[in-house]
Amino acid sequence: MEIGQVIGATTLRGFRFVIKEGMEKHVTRGEFVSVKEAVTGNEVLGIIKEITISNELLPDEFGRDLRIGDIVLNEGEYPVPTVKILGYEEDRGLELPRHGIKPGSSVYLVEDEVLKRILWQDEKKSACIGSVSTRETVPVYISINDIISRHCAVLAMTGSGKSYTVGVLIEELLKKKGALLVFDPHGEYKNLVVEGAKTKLYGVKGANKIMIETSSLRTGDYANLIPDLSEPQRDLLEETVSLAGKFYDKYDFDIVKNILSCVYDAKDGRELITDMIPENTLKELAKKVSLSTIGALIRRLDRLARMGVFEMDGTPLEEIVAVNQLTVMDLSDSDERLSETIIAVLCRKIFDARKQYVKDGTGTFKTPTFIIVEEAHNFAPRSTEERQIISRGILKRIAREGRKFGVGLCIVSQRPSKLDSDVLSQCNTQIIMKIVNPADQEYIRQSVESVTEDVVKDLPALARGEAIISGSAIRLSVPVKVRHRTTTVGGEDIDIVGEWMKNSKN
Ligand SMILES: Nc1ncnc2c1ncn2[C@@H]1O[C@H](COP(=O)(O)OP(=O)(O)OP(=O)(O)O)[C@@H](O)[C@H]1O
Ligand SMILES: [Mg+2]
Repeated sequence: MEIGQVIGATTLRGFRFVIKEGMEKHVTRGEFVSVKEAVTGNEVLGIIKEITISNELLPDEFGRDLRIGDIVLNEGEYPVPTVKILGYEEDRGLELPRHGIKPGSSVYLVEDEVLKRILWQDEKKSACIGSVSTRETVPVYISINDIISRHCAVLAMTGSGKSYTVGVLIEELLKKKGALLVFDPHGEYKNLVVEGAKTKLYGVKGANKIMIETSSLRTGDYANLIPDLSEPQRDLLEETVSLAGKFYDKYDFDIVKNILSCVYDAKDGRELITDMIPENTLKELAKKVSLSTIGALIRRLDRLARMGVFEMDGTPLEEIVAVNQLTVMDLSDSDERLSETIIAVLCRKIFDARKQYVKDGTGTFKTPTFIIVEEAHNFAPRSTEERQIISRGILKRIAREGRKFGVGLCIVSQRPSKLDSDVLSQCNTQIIMKIVNPADQEYIRQSVESVTEDVVKDLPALARGEAIISGSAIRLSVPVKVRHRTTTVGGEDIDIVGEWMKNSKN
């Protein structure tokens, strides 16, 4: 359908046009149009980025004396859409034109069929996230293999629909029997039930408590959980944990504390009753430390033991992650240090198990895993933060190397500028929703290749539930209306006034 004619000077990146009478209703921001390229006759696709309306009777300078009312505003007034060229169809995707567009060329509305063809992906291996913003009839698919191998980021200011969109993604991945693990700091996902798939909920207390084997904690994890650990205590802990690892198949805090008590007795000159560890080793260790250090470390380990998460045996990885299963790790009852440690330990376990299976051929963990981290700026922050965040290292590692072992990462954040830039730039697909904060916009533009100035400019205008999806999992970067979810999740806006009114009646 012809909707207008190219005017003015054109470039290889864009052009402007005037609208044919009666076609105004088709000309909206985000709409797809096409023109024929001079010389080749290729059908060049573009997207309307801007619509300028000027009136020759009311030029800019005229504004000072403007009196609306006795002026017929429509006379001599014409809207001029500005189009950004996307390219013409080639086997490998869209290719930018080389010859240019002639002024005077006819401008057409792109047929649904053409857009469908360009955005098409094999339904068996892709996720339907929604439809093109301006065309409800054109579905948008993203490649599942790609988002899991090359990771994805869901970025937007608060309340724009990140978690909702992640919910849609979860539904789609479960249709493909996915193995998904969500780290959920606000307990928003615990009610998510997807028909035909299993949901497993873990927390840090109560009946669904996650259990982590004490032997998987490293000294850094201990130091993270015990912020007031002194340097000598840390050294002693390191040696004690390494003894425990050497002389016991598996151990818990009681065993670690037991070793420390033996060291205490050795220091104190008492007789030693040891079972596993040779007396001499304990006596050697005792020489290096003071009684007060040993005592203080035992008290700190007592505090850790009371958290109840770290035990002799942990929840088996095969239970935590399985095909056709959504696992929600509810961290809403956990403090930040414990949350960081749980994320670090579980991600490390998954990564190591997959590495063993894929690379060394010795492991048994057959399940490629997709890990979703909500509030990712807290768990993979930029290094400028004042303290080391223990989960950052492994999240960085997964972002960098996960592809080789089938461990995918989805980071979700409302403060992109606080995210580690390596993690962000390794996420090759971006689902970006409304962002107004200039620092966040600028940071995304710098860190993410596929996000150009032009995309950033569109971000403040996006509506709730609307996203720009770009990157390797999609064939063309497009504004998308995220589809409705078939399941419900928590975290919806609270009707504040409704709650006040309700409570005032009690
Ligand atoms: N595509 C959509 N269709 C319908 N409703 C939506 C859509 N996206 C979001 N919403 C609604 O918008 C509200 C906010 O969405 P959501 O909780 O996903 O935001 P968020 O970006 O995760 O916010 P926060 O940063 O606070 O976690 C919810 O009430 C949700 O139901
Ligand atoms: Mg959310």
